Amino acid sequence: MAHPSGEGVKPAVLVARRIFPEVLARLRQHFDVEANETDDVWSAAELARRLQGKAGVLTTGTERITAELLAATPGLKIVANMAVGYNNFDVPACTAHGVLATNTPDVLTDTTADFGFALLMATARRMAESEHFLRAGLWNRWSIDMFAGTEVHGSTLGILGMGRIGQGIARRGAHGFDMRVIYHNRSRLDAATEAACGATYVSKADLLAQADHLVLVLPYTASNHHIIGAPELAQMKPTATLINIARGGIVDDAALAQALRSGQIAAAGLDVFEGEPQVHPDLLTVPNVVLTPHIASATLATRRAMANLAADNLIACLTEGSALTPINPEVLSA
Ligand code: DGY
Repeated sequence: MAHPSGEGVKPAVLVARRIFPEVLARLRQHFDVEANETDDVWSAAELARRLQGKAGVLTTGTERITAELLAATPGLKIVANMAVGYNNFDVPACTAHGVLATNTPDVLTDTTADFGFALLMATARRMAESEHFLRAGLWNRWSIDMFAGTEVHGSTLGILGMGRIGQGIARRGAHGFDMRVIYHNRSRLDAATEAACGATYVSKADLLAQADHLVLVLPYTASNHHIIGAPELAQMKPTATLINIARGGIVDDAALAQALRSGQIAAAGLDVFEGEPQVHPDLLTVPNVVLTPHIASATLATRRAMANLAADNLIACLTEGSALTPINPEVLSA
């Protein structure tokens, strides 16, 4: 039984989604843990109810930490996202409430860059479309242009958003596939990083006009909403492919479906969607798009590393007032 003074009482934390048992066991060494051991997403009201009396929460990208939720959970000290992206957090509201927010950068960079490149290749070389054709029993002869795709090696790779993952994709393209790599980003990289990535900074207009394969790797913010819509798709080459491994909402999915159907661009590869897990119905009916269910970071090794890093942030924050990967470190010094 806990001592009446509170001494020796473990802080209470919530784990909002099923994670690896060994990570849960590690958290239980430090905390009194309430865990959702299913893949069901709690409603905002349910999350707020379960957060009463909790000092920390481990979330995934699907739990929204809003100003309203923070106002209703006064004991909360840390929200630890098991994702590098944190558009599910209202960070200014976290800071205003003195709540530390953390994410999981670095541990997923190469795995996600691998996937971005795989999706680019699958899209350019029409792998999903041709596999469906084969499975449907339609393959009865060879023909000279059957599922002829777009060249990857030696082509121009465009990257919008040049953070860690964008840089990983650039290196794969420049050094592995002999591609000319161009990028656009809020801020230009320093010359040494550009050289290591083999990448050249261009305007957004040049990126859209010149890329044979355009990969989106930028964070979702209100100002990035539909940053690729009908006007931008109209500036791309008719032979171009578009790859989105960033976040739904960056691309206007309805406009993209229309551009794919009309042949305004050649093909797209999408791992993220507006309103996922729902997918715009028009995207489901166009053949020239490869669709995957938000799995760019999904290898067991990487997902374990992400869960462990989120757990480490909870432990560091609630046992010693620090964090490994804070988003709003000013909360720690306040
Ligand atoms: C991330 O880490 O932001 C990914 O999208 C979640 O898998």
